[in-house]
Amino acid sequence: MTAEDHPAEGAAAAAARRRTFAIISHPDAGKSTLTESLALNARAIEEAGHIHGKAGRSATVSDWMGMEKDRGISISSASMQLEHRGTVLNLLDTPGHADFSEDTYRVLAAVDAAVMLIDAAKGLEPQTMKLFNVCRHRGIPIITVINKWDRPGLEALELIDEIREETGLDPTPVTWPVGIAGDFHGYLERRTGDLTLIRATPGGRRSAEEEHFSAGEATPEALGLPELADAREESELLGASGADHDQETFLAGISTPVFFAAAVRHLGVPRLLDALVELAPSPEPGPDAEGEPRSLDAPFSAFTFKIQSGMDAAHRDRLAFVRVCSGVFRRGMTVTSARTGRPFSMKYTHLAFGRTREVVDVAYPGDVVGIVNASALRIGDTLYEAQPVEYPPLPRFAPEYFAVARPADMGRMKQFRRGVEQLEAEGVIQVLRSEVRGTHVPVLAAVGPMQFEVVDHRLREEFRSSAKLEPLEHSLARATDESSAQELAGLAGVEVLERSDGQLLALFRDRWHLLGIERTRTHLRLDPLVAA
Ligand code: G4P
Repeated sequence: MTAEDHPAEGAAAAAARRRTFAIISHPDAGKSTLTESLALNARAIEEAGHIHGKAGRSATVSDWMGMEKDRGISISSASMQLEHRGTVLNLLDTPGHADFSEDTYRVLAAVDAAVMLIDAAKGLEPQTMKLFNVCRHRGIPIITVINKWDRPGLEALELIDEIREETGLDPTPVTWPVGIAGDFHGYLERRTGDLTLIRATPGGRRSAEEEHFSAGEATPEALGLPELADAREESELLGASGADHDQETFLAGISTPVFFAAAVRHLGVPRLLDALVELAPSPEPGPDAEGEPRSLDAPFSAFTFKIQSGMDAAHRDRLAFVRVCSGVFRRGMTVTSARTGRPFSMKYTHLAFGRTREVVDVAYPGDVVGIVNASALRIGDTLYEAQPVEYPPLPRFAPEYFAVARPADMGRMKQFRRGVEQLEAEGVIQVLRSEVRGTHVPVLAAVGPMQFEVVDHRLREEFRSSAKLEPLEHSLARATDESSAQELAGLAGVEVLERSDGQLLALFRDRWHLLGIERTRTHLRLDPLVAA
């Protein structure tokens, strides 16, 4: 892509010009709308190095395919690449609706920052909090965007309080809205006092019009804007309480810069693009499984964070998405899989990016590359060139749904087993077993119930072996050890199973069930899993 723009660019220099992030939000907060608006307000680029020259064209809001066609950009369920002020923005998609599952969380292992999108009328909602918790666990810096400021909502200061209380982060608004929710005139740049007045273009099909004023010019009297006085007062109040942006605490996951926007009208979105360039961190040398950082300029390495199957049922096709961690990816290179030690030739695989499957010729740290028909790859696999490296395993998230799985037709046992093994390797489902149940009777564990439907569908379609799933009453899992396991297994309603990585999990009916046991048996080892 940018090889053309920057012919001699090394991996570290290219990485410095990259921001890889995801948007986390509750359904309906406006993630798709914001994604479209970011694309409209930035320069969409395509991996092979061509900038599609149709940026002036309007995008059909809420019509992905139409947008792809109109603007020639590639949008996929995995990632989208944009360019703003000479910086490449990799926006990774976190599927957030009905298919909300472990897959969603794993995407967060491949980003360097997250945009937490909040609906101004609703404040922080459950799914946002779940995703936020994963980010916090991984130390991912968070930029907060309060969306839908064009329609009535909560008060700005109230929302700031709520962010502080719910997330424990220090909210540090970088911009402050002029006008209450539903009456969005523009925003103050809190550090300088400069003002940006914004006006949506009719129909909201083009970028908003913006007018900039210095702090001296921007007085309520000069502009006939009484709301400006309130905004300044509130901004000063925030300053007095120390709520000013601090890059160090932001990167450390202690504070979160806050911006206001109305994505549907593109209001405040250009400012957010600037913020991503200015504030979001660029890819850094990632620690390997031993905790040693691998230099960005070291030979190519990447890890697999997502496997998507069955996109083309006729070909049983599998697309593995890898995030480049070091070096330069070039199409046709031969790499090694750290898990198997075997060479992995990319010579004959097509490389894809997005639904349109354009060929990726070159990619740098922070970029995402989709590899077609990479059946040898599993979730979490590291690929490297020349200098061996293995990245830490991806986190397994705390399952909340459990079901015993059996083949509907015992004559198809072999296919059933193979199917379950395959789906586990792809990270579609976690598989637990115990001697009590028999190792051929797996318990499937999911963070979202949709995962079971995917398993059922794929076993039927791809392995011709329907499953009988019998839900268990448990809804909570804790990590335990051998010595606690024996005692736990004897308690009413508790079941102990082994995950395929050897971790023992104790399952409980619910929080109260667990609490009751924890209270009376403090010696037991019961560690929370990565909360999701
Ligand atoms: P999601 O991906 O997070 O689920 O949200 P999505 O973008 O689909 O937005 C959910 C609804 O919120 C959509 O309305 C969308 O137009 C609206 N929306 C998003 N951003 C803003 C905003 O800044 N201001 C206002 N007023 N509305 C916003 P819908 O009625 O469900 O769909 P549609 O008919 O508008 O497409």
